[in-house]
Amino acid sequence: MSIETDASRKVTAGPEHPNSWVFINGEFRRYQDAKLGLMTHALHYGTGVFEGIRAYWNSDKAQLYLLHGPVHYDRLRKSGSIMKMTLPHSTEELVKLTLELLRRNEYKQDTYVRPLLFKSSEVIGVRLEGIAESFLIYTAPMGNYVDVDAGIRCMVSSWRRVSDSSLPARAKITGAYANSALAKAEAEENGFDEAIVLALDGHVSEGSAENLFMYKDGVFVTPPVTDDILEGVTRKLLLGLIKDELGKQVVERSIDRTELYTCDELFLCGTGAQVSPVIEVDRRPVGDGRIGELTSELQGVYFGAVRGDNPRYSDWTLPVY
Ligand SMILES: Cc1ncc(COP(=O)(O)O)c(C=O)c1O
Repeated sequence: MSIETDASRKVTAGPEHPNSWVFINGEFRRYQDAKLGLMTHALHYGTGVFEGIRAYWNSDKAQLYLLHGPVHYDRLRKSGSIMKMTLPHSTEELVKLTLELLRRNEYKQDTYVRPLLFKSSEVIGVRLEGIAESFLIYTAPMGNYVDVDAGIRCMVSSWRRVSDSSLPARAKITGAYANSALAKAEAEENGFDEAIVLALDGHVSEGSAENLFMYKDGVFVTPPVTDDILEGVTRKLLLGLIKDELGKQVVERSIDRTELYTCDELFLCGTGAQVSPVIEVDRRPVGDGRIGELTSELQGVYFGAVRGDNPRYSDWTLPVY
């Protein structure tokens, strides 16, 4: 499998590294020995829940740091509960298994961790009851998912975000990512880097796979968790950093589409996207069309913390080696 990051970087995992270790249904196996059947329920009906976790390589310290493992596994448990699925391990066990997997694969670079809990019976029928569950974790090297240095250009998607009344965005459900894929594809086909998606009521929800913050009139603003967003781990970390490190107020309230055109700074954030400054929306410059000063400062603090360089945030990470 190939995971595309930005235009210049492509990283590989899976079949091209058949001997890499994965964890599946209670045991460590080589990627090439871990197989799934063609009729696997989740493949056809999107009945899986997953996480995306990062581990950051710190070359000065020769150490790999797993970022907020327990928080991601707690969210996975909640996603599972919405979909009536149960994680077969405690959060503590899952973190230990993840550290072990990263050690086995001997990574010395930024890495992505993908746990997946899914309906695995090979049966026909759209339902949740009576279908067996499987759980796997695989890992893959991963650089930047979007270009965090140059600033990105976004469009407001014509696709609306899935609503809590149809497919809950607060659960990280595999099937819901078809919605993200439609939005991202539309943005790329139209020459943009990323999509910003509105909720059904027309308020700004989030990016295709990122939460969103704007800076306007001296205050940071981000949509509340009731505006059909994924309750992002990065979003929560940044809520704290904005107050503690930038000394700025941050408000959770609904955002109108045209506020994206009139705000001073804008950025998307997430485990994959990290802190990604937005410099243009719908062909209108954000602020003066350059990366915002505060966004840049926030990026600096964030990267220092996640790479294990800031002792104030040492509880964010766990060393792998
Ligand atoms: C739809 C969506 N929103 C937001 C995020 C950001 O969440 P987190 O910071 O937990 O990675 C993601 C990332 O996985 C996502 O897929």
